[in-house]
Amino acid sequence: MTDSITIRRPDDWHVHLRDGAMLEAVAGYTARQFARAIVMPNLTPPVTTADAARAYREAIMAALPGDADFTPLMTAYLTDTISPDELARGHEDGVFTAAKLYPAGATTNSASGVTDIANIRAALEAMQSIGMPLLVHGEVTDHDIDIFDREAVFIERILEPLVRDFPALRIVLEHITTADAVRFVENAGQNVAATITPHHCHINRNAIFERGIRPHAYCLPIAKREQHRLAVRAAAVSGSPKFFLGTDSAPHAKRDKEAACGCAGIFNAPYALESYAAVFDEEDVLDHFEAFASEHGPRFYGLPLNEGTVTLRRESVDIPESLDAAGGEIVPFHAGETLRWSLI
Ligand code: DOR
Ligand code: ZN
Repeated sequence: MTDSITIRRPDDWHVHLRDGAMLEAVAGYTARQFARAIVMPNLTPPVTTADAARAYREAIMAALPGDADFTPLMTAYLTDTISPDELARGHEDGVFTAAKLYPAGATTNSASGVTDIANIRAALEAMQSIGMPLLVHGEVTDHDIDIFDREAVFIERILEPLVRDFPALRIVLEHITTADAVRFVENAGQNVAATITPHHCHINRNAIFERGIRPHAYCLPIAKREQHRLAVRAAAVSGSPKFFLGTDSAPHAKRDKEAACGCAGIFNAPYALESYAAVFDEEDVLDHFEAFASEHGPRFYGLPLNEGTVTLRRESVDIPESLDAAGGEIVPFHAGETLRWSLI
C-alpha cells in the first residue's frame, strides 16, 4: 500500500478568493496548496476591465505573506456590453488569462452576467482568434427548468450551438455535475475541457437533505443524483486530459449559509488536495492524481508545468467544525470528518 505520494505542484483552475476581509481570511489556504489559481471575477462590482483585474491581483498578493510562491491568474467577467478590445488588450498584456461566462442570474453575483449569447458574439470571435479560453458556468436560468436539469439543458440549448459556431474557441465547462456534461466533454474536440470539484466527487444530492436541511452542502450547480456523481468521479480519475482540478472553493460566512435564504457555495480550499486524494485512493488510481492535479490544466491553458513538488502522506487529518474568518466563522467542506491523507 502506498503511504505517501509526491506530485508536481498542482494548480486550482477555478476558485473564488473574494475581496476585503474574506480575501484576507481565505487567500492563504489556496496559496498553501496550489502554485497558481484561476480566480473568479464575480466580485461586487464584477471584474470587467484589465485595470480592475490588475488591482484585484495586487490585493490578492497583498493578502499573502511577502514570500508566498503563488500566482493568481485573473479572469474577465463577461457582460452584455463587454468590449472585445478590452478583453483582447487585457489578454495580450498578460492580465486576463481567460474570460468567464455567467448566464445572468445563474448564481452568486451573476446579475451583471450575459442575458443572451448573441450579445457576446463579437467578444467570442475575438477570444477565438487570440486563443483566450472561455470559462462557462453551464446552467440555464429559466425557473421553469427544474434546478437538477439546468446543466443538461444548458448543454443542449446553449453549449452545443456555441461549440458549433466557434469551433476553435477553447472552452472549459466549469464544475461539471452530470453524466451529460461528462459525455459532452468527452465527445467534443480537443478545444473543450472541464474542471471537477472535490465536493461533486464526494456528495450527491442526498447530502443536502440528510436528516434535515444542510446548507453547507448547497452549491451551484447543485449536487445531482448518485449516478451523476459516479460519472463525474469516473471522469476525474480516468486519466483523460480533458478533465482537471478546479475546486470552486466558494467561501460564505456561516451566518450567510445558515439563513432563510442561504448562499450557494462550498468552502473546500483548506483541505482540497486531501479531499481529492481520498477520491483517487478510493478508486485505487493514485497514480492518476498528479496528471489531474498538475498536468492536464496547464497543458490545456498552454502554460508551463510547475516546478517543485508537494507530498501527501497517509495520515489522518480531522477537519474542524468551523474556521475563524472575516470577524465570523466559516464552515469548511468535510467539517467534523476525518480524511485519510494529509498534505505535508
Ligand atoms: O456555489 C457556487 N458559489 N457556485 C457558483 O457558481 C458561485 C459561487 C460563489 O461565488 O459563491
Ligand atoms: Zn465558481
